Amino acid sequence: SLVRHYKFSVVLKNTTKLCSTKSFVSINGQFPGPTLYAREDDTVIIRVTNHVKYNITIHWHGIKQLRSGWSDGPAYVTQCPIQPGQNFVYNFTITGQRGTLLWHAHITWLRATVYGAIVILPKTGIAYPFPIPDKEKIIILGEWWKSDVEAVLNQAEKSGLPPNISDAHTVNGHTGPVPGCTSQGYTLHVESGKTYLLRIINAALNDELFFKIAGHKLTVVEADASYVKPFETDTIFMSPGQTTNVLLTTNQRVGKYLIAVTPFMDAPIGFDNVTSIAILRYKATSPYPKTTLTTIPALNATPLTSHFIDSLRSLNSKKYPARVPLTVDHSLFFAITVGLNPCDSCLTGTKLVSAINNITFLLPTVSSLLEAHYYNIKGVFADDFPAYPPTVFNYTGTQPANIRTDNGTKLYRLNFNSSVQIILQGTAMIAPENHPFHLHGYNFFVVGQGLGNFDPEKDPLSFNLVDPVERNTIGIPNGGWAAIRFKANNPGVWFLHCHLEVHTTWGLKMAFIVDNGNGPHESLLPPPNDLPKC
Ligand code: C2O
Repeated sequence: SLVRHYKFSVVLKNTTKLCSTKSFVSINGQFPGPTLYAREDDTVIIRVTNHVKYNITIHWHGIKQLRSGWSDGPAYVTQCPIQPGQNFVYNFTITGQRGTLLWHAHITWLRATVYGAIVILPKTGIAYPFPIPDKEKIIILGEWWKSDVEAVLNQAEKSGLPPNISDAHTVNGHTGPVPGCTSQGYTLHVESGKTYLLRIINAALNDELFFKIAGHKLTVVEADASYVKPFETDTIFMSPGQTTNVLLTTNQRVGKYLIAVTPFMDAPIGFDNVTSIAILRYKATSPYPKTTLTTIPALNATPLTSHFIDSLRSLNSKKYPARVPLTVDHSLFFAITVGLNPCDSCLTGTKLVSAINNITFLLPTVSSLLEAHYYNIKGVFADDFPAYPPTVFNYTGTQPANIRTDNGTKLYRLNFNSSVQIILQGTAMIAPENHPFHLHGYNFFVVGQGLGNFDPEKDPLSFNLVDPVERNTIGIPNGGWAAIRFKANNPGVWFLHCHLEVHTTWGLKMAFIVDNGNGPHESLLPPPNDLPKC
């Protein structure tokens, strides 16, 4: 195994997109940022230097961070931010995982422009468990605002209302071609008769996305850096934070084929971020070919999303067995709500909040949660996060007009090596969206999902404990539920949150403490010397 060194310089960069110029926060002036390449078992060391006026942190989304929780990155959870002019060195070893992941800023809304791919190759001499591709390409989907994204966030917080939606989706940093502007859109150049591995990443801030290529089928082979049973589809569906590897066979000879990227259930029809397009182009193509088009999935194409999600199964081979916990030590039920709380300083007198079991989570500001745990600093958090909602209601029926929530910094303690089951129950309140929940420090198995209210008598009978998909981010269906299981074998403080950034802002987050019972000094390595101070 190798040690790989990267330098991430946080700098402002100017760019013109959609006929509009702005400066944005970038890594090394690149957009998307640099790709991290490593092999399983390698150690990756990234020195981050902050040259902008914003505080920043970087999160390695989906990296398990076994015993290296200090390098996980969410601001005020595992570290205080890297302040302007400061450095911090992230240092982690990649254990037991290979595939495509992403890294991104993990503070305010900086991840709108601060993100990139992580490619983890199998150990030397180990092949992929699918036909060896001739070539590999990274496709990162994102969102672009013409205005400053931090200003969009501040405006939303002041008003208590939803933020302005993005002006366009991007493919590898390019918006689609815009009449009158210079943008060409992204072109994926391919040769005929080859197999390509596309590493597709949804790095969007707030949008779940469909992805399809006209005239071509895609074979899904991996999700969130876990191998899956291969299946063929013409449309991929991904929540923010999710990654999907697909094989693409270039079985045409020449021509241009539309690549469509469209959101699911989000922007009301009429907004201009609805479709973004890129082009797949064969190398032997004449200068002015016509483009083969494709149908665009409907904004509310729920059957398509369910079908895609239901098709995902762990590979569960001899070499890559699915180690699903068969028993449950901690059984949790998290009701996810979006509601209105009073707000004196907001324009409308109320503000949108979001909660798990009626707790709207507030991050501390004086210390990170991990430091408070490690040094036993009192008063930073409580450890009485409720395992169940305070009142049981018909989660997916007619909603109570207003669910007031309580602000809190409450954590939930898990015993080291215990098996955890969480039923994540969506409630269809206000925002008709899935909630893509992301757990830090672990992959989990999605043992069940369904529409309506979870039925504790009936639904567990049909749980898949054999080959459920293993991932780090799961879209909780709008007005439905998902059941996840994992083994709490990684000590530390681990964030769980909705990966629609707007919902995280509204408080849709919490954290677990995992301790081996002998105290944090036994289970954790000491913090690095350069860990930033608050
Ligand atoms: Cu990709 Cu806590 O985030």
